[in-house]
Amino acid sequence: MSFEKNILCIGAGYVGGPTMAMIAYKCPQYRVTVVDIDPERIAQWNSDDLPIYEPGLEEIVKTARGRNLFFSTEVEEGIRESEIIFVSVNTPTKTFGAGAGMAADLQYWDKTARQIRKYSESNKIIVEKSTLPVKTAQAMERILTSADNGIRFHVLSNPEFLAQGTAIKDLEDPDRVLIGSTQTPEGLKARDVLVEIYSNWIRRERIITSNIWSSELSKLVANAFLAQRISSINSISALCEKADADVEEVARAVGMDSRVGNRFLNASVGFGGSCFKKDILNLVYLCQYYDLKEVADYWEGVVRINDYQKERFVLNMLNVMFNTLANKRICLFGFAFKADTGDTRESPAIFVAERLIEEKARVVITDPKALKNAMKDLENIAGEISYVEDPYEASAGCSAIAVMTEWGIYADLDYKKIYRSMAKPAFIFDGRNILDHDKLFEIGFNVFPIGKPGLTHF
Ligand code: UDX
Repeated sequence: MSFEKNILCIGAGYVGGPTMAMIAYKCPQYRVTVVDIDPERIAQWNSDDLPIYEPGLEEIVKTARGRNLFFSTEVEEGIRESEIIFVSVNTPTKTFGAGAGMAADLQYWDKTARQIRKYSESNKIIVEKSTLPVKTAQAMERILTSADNGIRFHVLSNPEFLAQGTAIKDLEDPDRVLIGSTQTPEGLKARDVLVEIYSNWIRRERIITSNIWSSELSKLVANAFLAQRISSINSISALCEKADADVEEVARAVGMDSRVGNRFLNASVGFGGSCFKKDILNLVYLCQYYDLKEVADYWEGVVRINDYQKERFVLNMLNVMFNTLANKRICLFGFAFKADTGDTRESPAIFVAERLIEEKARVVITDPKALKNAMKDLENIAGEISYVEDPYEASAGCSAIAVMTEWGIYADLDYKKIYRSMAKPAFIFDGRNILDHDKLFEIGFNVFPIGKPGLTHF
């Protein structure tokens, strides 16, 4: 069977896999191949046990796989046979040299550009899907065209805004799709090819175009703004706890101003996830690079408040539990960075667990999906940590419960039963404000929400 277009994606991760599955699902006329150098990951994509969990993903993969969606390790062949190549390799924060701890590590990206150059035998459109520092497209175009072999490459920026847990919904019905290109006639032509692909299922007015640098920058700024909202409300949560105000009431009153909007104003123990911190630090690094110190400091403040919030959470536990946590069993309800995912990258629970161990507490961790990752995250921490799937069993004998993740199941537990099984006095620290605090207080717990005065029996 012949296809209208051959599309390749290099990188079968959280972004590449679901995005390509959606394109293949919506556009049976295109052949879509996803390649990765990791054979284990590809084998998982070809199995019944996909490497990532996202509601709705399995159905669309099963419909398209083998029809017009293929997962393979044949990078060379994939490059040769496709006209459009999405690049979705990881760009972690650099851990060495200049910009360590801030700048993006572009080695996989650079290597991919060289691979594309080496194996290409015809003109290609290259689509940046990974989140990258501004002007990476230009660098890529330079690497690609340096072979001087007559092959033309057009690099587009098409950042992905999907959030984990809602990836399929976000891909199927996005707020917007952004495509950045150079403004030359050839650049615009390449851009229109990508517009046409998305137009198969997304309304044209939601597909916006811009120059390539605006597009690259928009991704960093979108994440910085979202994280900023959380740090803003978290900073106010500290004040509410002192001033007898309730942060949820404040957030509601502020969010009802339609200019502000009511989403992403839930105070918490802190934001996590693979993107927010990394992208803000990337933005900060970019500002420093251009000598914009005040701008860099401003955005760095978003990360500083997040660190402050996590530390504040632990210090509050220490303070109200009579200034010592040594030998006390403390149960963490949830370890994932948010509900409905097993992902623990940058989860505030990692920080809290480490700090509790420093205080010589005995930590018990429970989570419906993230226990395996939790074990990996904490494998080098010397201290008493145990992992228990059942929350009743996990909390039995503990002096405190700290809610780290807003899993729905934690709101529906039998807290009378839990209270009976715990050491007294029993404490609950609700890092996500998902529990019924008054009811817990009536049962006998000392309750400490985020951004509201604590309820104590002494
Ligand atoms: C984010 C962006 O939302 C997405 O557009 C981008 O493409 C990638 O980064 P994600 O990391 O999947 O997505 O998670 P998100 O739902 O944004 O949550 C990030 C963190 O903020 C989580 O730890 C979450 O629990 C926390 N959060 C979110 C709050 O603490 N309060 C809120 O009001 C909202």
